[in-house]
Amino acid sequence: MNLPAFIAAKRDGATHDDADLRAFVRGVADGSVPDEQAAAWLMAVVFRGLNDHETAVLTDAMADSGARLALGDLPHTVDKHSTGGVGDKTTLVLAPLLATLGATVAKASGRGLGHTGGTIDKLESIPGYRAALDEAAFLAQAREVGVVVAGQSASMAPADGVLYALRDATATVASPPLIAASVMSKKLAGGAASIVLDVKVGRGAFMKDLDAGRDLARRMRAIGAHAGRRVAVVLSGMEQPLGRTVGNALEVREAIATLEGGGPPDLRELVLALAREVLAASGLPADPATVAAPLDDGRAKATFERWIAAQGGDLAHDDALALAPDVVTIDADRDGVLADLDALAVGRAVRALGGGRAAKGDAVDLGVGVTLAAKVGDPVAAGAPLLTIHHRGGRGLDAARAALADAVRIDDAASPPPLIHEVLPADGAS
Ligand code: URA
Repeated sequence: MNLPAFIAAKRDGATHDDADLRAFVRGVADGSVPDEQAAAWLMAVVFRGLNDHETAVLTDAMADSGARLALGDLPHTVDKHSTGGVGDKTTLVLAPLLATLGATVAKASGRGLGHTGGTIDKLESIPGYRAALDEAAFLAQAREVGVVVAGQSASMAPADGVLYALRDATATVASPPLIAASVMSKKLAGGAASIVLDVKVGRGAFMKDLDAGRDLARRMRAIGAHAGRRVAVVLSGMEQPLGRTVGNALEVREAIATLEGGGPPDLRELVLALAREVLAASGLPADPATVAAPLDDGRAKATFERWIAAQGGDLAHDDALALAPDVVTIDADRDGVLADLDALAVGRAVRALGGGRAAKGDAVDLGVGVTLAAKVGDPVAAGAPLLTIHHRGGRGLDAARAALADAVRIDDAASPPPLIHEVLPADGAS
């Protein structure tokens, strides 16, 4: 293909035809499109955008650039994706809950990057957990246990891998059609019939306001409709962290408490909202009592244990969910009500402690993190701990303290920010 003409067409605001877009994506995946030309096209898209049809074709071509999982005759295949947040451990609770209720969760998950965490890092705080599974083992576990969560393999939507790395390096990440195509290419390749997307909105998220979140949601639903998938969206708040822990092992502990019927109310509420939407999309019973019951009667926890054991994880191991040995607290400087707790600052603090990555491939300390004694709207007393920093021998502690210095504000009165802004059910969901 004539790459300069293709790039110029987008630069000048033209609409691509399907064949050109598909040829471009094939070239990205096989390396015949050089980085500089791919990057120039990405920048043209940042300024000119892609219409829904172009975005759907781009996404489908990206999904086609590698292997597509054939989930075949597995019952009620479902998938979930979060656009990334702080303290977001919903998959750890949602996946076994859905499997308990008759869905098949065969899911590829990511690792954390920047201030956001990733499910695979969290799971690796359980000794023995195997995130790398070949396709046969992945499908066998999906069939036998109803839930399998593996790391994203290099063969899944490889064109996205190339484009994402270029976007990261060329300031072209923040483009709604490119984000929508990137997320959905991996969901299409993952093969599930019904998908629930948790689009995070707020300081700690990619989408900083509700309008941006709605726009991304609309684009991803349009891609799903084009590909014949049922896509529901929950737009959820990410002004403050989700739950009361941020950090890998800490978050798994909190997820387990939620699977035992406890845990923080916001985590439970979000899990249940996501579960109801994707179960309804999949044609399974989704009334609130049915969906909540397995968290309270031990069934979801039992499914969690079967899942973790099937992937080699040993929850009884001495090192399981081990926390860093050192703690310091940040205390309230007055009586009042917690009025602000900045998710982005907490995410940055945890990364500074070693709990996240500055660059892909960095090692992660799974035991460090931050525990929140109060959430926005809670009363606090002068001198009582607000935040507990779990650190290892002071590593990153000064930077974490600096990140947290302005993260917290106490006032005379405050109410919690909304957790769930909007729910967009899948078309045709019961
Ligand atoms: N997550 C993705 O997978 N891709 C993006 O472009 C942004 C967030």
